[in-house]
Amino acid sequence: MEHMEKVHILDHPLLQHKLCILRDENTGVKDFREVVSEIATLMCYEATRDLPLADVEIKTPVATSTFKQLAGKKLAIVPVLRAGLGMVDGILPLIPPAKVGHIGLYRDPATLEPVEYYCKMPGDIAERDVIILDPMLATGGSASAAIQFIKNYDVKHIKLMNIIAAPQGIERVHKDHPDVDIYVAAVDEKLNDHGYIVPGLGDAGDRIFGTK
Ligand code: PRP
Ligand code: URA
Repeated sequence: MEHMEKVHILDHPLLQHKLCILRDENTGVKDFREVVSEIATLMCYEATRDLPLADVEIKTPVATSTFKQLAGKKLAIVPVLRAGLGMVDGILPLIPPAKVGHIGLYRDPATLEPVEYYCKMPGDIAERDVIILDPMLATGGSASAAIQFIKNYDVKHIKLMNIIAAPQGIERVHKDHPDVDIYVAAVDEKLNDHGYIVPGLGDAGDRIFGTK
């Protein structure tokens, strides 16, 4: 795959193990939901590795010294409804002050084009760095539309976090938005005729919310 410097494949053993649980068709709703959230936590740890730090002086019970604390812009996370909602609870404990925006998109099953049905962003979104959350990056249509949507709010720095991607999805997002860093736990083989990732994990929204 080209443009590898913008694509971060997070292949930590814990992530690979937890992904097996998601992929297994016998995993039920409760476990699926819990593991999506756990994976989001582990991915957030990596996706925030480049956050800027600034010196701070702290007096411990023993001595005063200089340490590092987070600096720079505040963060917002934006789950793509529905399936992205499953990642929110895993992320917020790591970055509790983050605000949460929502974008509702569904893929038209015939055209595979994203259709927008809801949007609510924090009022100060333009002053924040944004991490978009969606477990699946298939054709890339939904992610590309979500990124463009957030760029329209004048957000300058956007990251995309997906649990499983198809190569086509990564290529599409990179072509449309070469400035966006993409964090994925796995890049699968291909898409099938219905636009599902193969081998993938099925329909993420249905498996998180039990709507199949
Ligand atoms: C899924 C998934 C992504 C999209 C990926 O959502 O959560 O948003 O498909 O496909 P794409 O890369 O080809 O656009 P879906 O449209 O099934 O909606 P849902 O989350 O409400 O189930
Ligand atoms: N959306 C999903 O939920 N799963 C896929 O495999 C592709 C798109």
